[in-house]
Amino acid sequence: MLNCYKSQIPCRRQRGIKLELPQEAGYLVFAAAANVLSNLTQSVGPLPAGIKDPAASNGVSNLQRCRAAGYLTLAAVLLAGINHREAIVMIDGKKVLFSGMQSTGNLTLGNYLGALKNWVSLSDEYECFYSVVDMHSITVRQDPSELRKRARNLLTLYIAAGLDPQKNCIYYQSHVSGHAELAWILNCFTYIGELNRMTQFKDKAAKHADNINAGLYTYPVLMAADILLYQADVVPVGKDQLQHLEITRDIAQRFNAIYGDIFTIPEPYMGKAGANIRSLQNPEKKMSKSDENANASIYLMDDPDTIIRKFKRAVTDSEASVRYREEQPGIKNLIEIYCACTGKTPEETEKEFDGKGYSDFKPAVGEAVVSVLKPIQDRFYDLSKDKAYIDNIIKENAGKANYYATKTLRKVQKKIGFPERIR
Ligand code: TRP
Repeated sequence: MLNCYKSQIPCRRQRGIKLELPQEAGYLVFAAAANVLSNLTQSVGPLPAGIKDPAASNGVSNLQRCRAAGYLTLAAVLLAGINHREAIVMIDGKKVLFSGMQSTGNLTLGNYLGALKNWVSLSDEYECFYSVVDMHSITVRQDPSELRKRARNLLTLYIAAGLDPQKNCIYYQSHVSGHAELAWILNCFTYIGELNRMTQFKDKAAKHADNINAGLYTYPVLMAADILLYQADVVPVGKDQLQHLEITRDIAQRFNAIYGDIFTIPEPYMGKAGANIRSLQNPEKKMSKSDENANASIYLMDDPDTIIRKFKRAVTDSEASVRYREEQPGIKNLIEIYCACTGKTPEETEKEFDGKGYSDFKPAVGEAVVSVLKPIQDRFYDLSKDKAYIDNIIKENAGKANYYATKTLRKVQKKIGFPERIR
């Protein structure tokens, strides 16, 4: 897919952030500007001051590039008759990445080290869509105001954890109706037999026996819609979601076999370090935001004292030696957390704590975690105070997501034989 740059009309600086167009992007915009210049000047008059000569890029500031982009957008609106909210200037090619998290429960250190942290490192290489998948959340009964609050907190946390909202499309799933529309279509290309095999459905149905609703059952189809809507090439997921990615690929291949090359077939992207953080109370289990024992998980928003206390109470063993081996799963988990937070290797950690006991090691792990989480928490609280800034991100990125989603959706609707829209 083409990387995109959404310009604003007129282009303006957003509060606290300089809108930046990469250098090469600027050139492309200018080249495009030169191409449409003659049509442009006829339709909308001369280019604004400062970008009189769109082909000359030397000495042109980013702001001026943005103006050029804004101007091109305006041209697209006037010449092609498209909605200005959807007018996007396309720039350079990048692979597409899609992932999402549910806004239920509080994010844990496992979610951060296993997912969010990797997301941040992927955002240069890919055109990224990171969704707050609030539509998935209602497959389990939610308190409305709580759901809304958590969704906003999660979106804010994405940014606090380092995802640049100008580079990454951070948005609420429920703000892009294409997810629901494509999910319905894909439901008609998914077999009950396939859904019956989903282990997460079986687990959740057992856990919520009083509310085994159809949404819980077709949850993987909505997830397939999320991914296919953006023609994602890669999807970072944990092990527990691999089966859902597999069914996504099957649905996409089935659809493509009938209608031609419509969907990109997505590949899973398994994170490296830190992908496998275990419960502090039972290292046999994954650290989970739905664990009933609060001591089992470190929550991203836990204060430093709580973090240290939880590590001091972490279940270990009676070996009393800091060694990285299967026989000591509790200590192995703590070493992995320590390494993910400090960048050290297990061998270095073993050496560092050679001859020392758990009473030295456990608080050290706590401190390492605090040093990673504290700056994120501080940014989170700062960002939360700036309502207008977050609101603007929500609005802009929903527009961008919607643009791409609609592109795929219209293609699909046409292929399956829905009647054309009359404009
Ligand atoms: N089901 C995923 C989870 O609970 C969240 C999710 C929804 C997702 N849609 C997605 C993840 C698309 C990756 C891609 O973890």
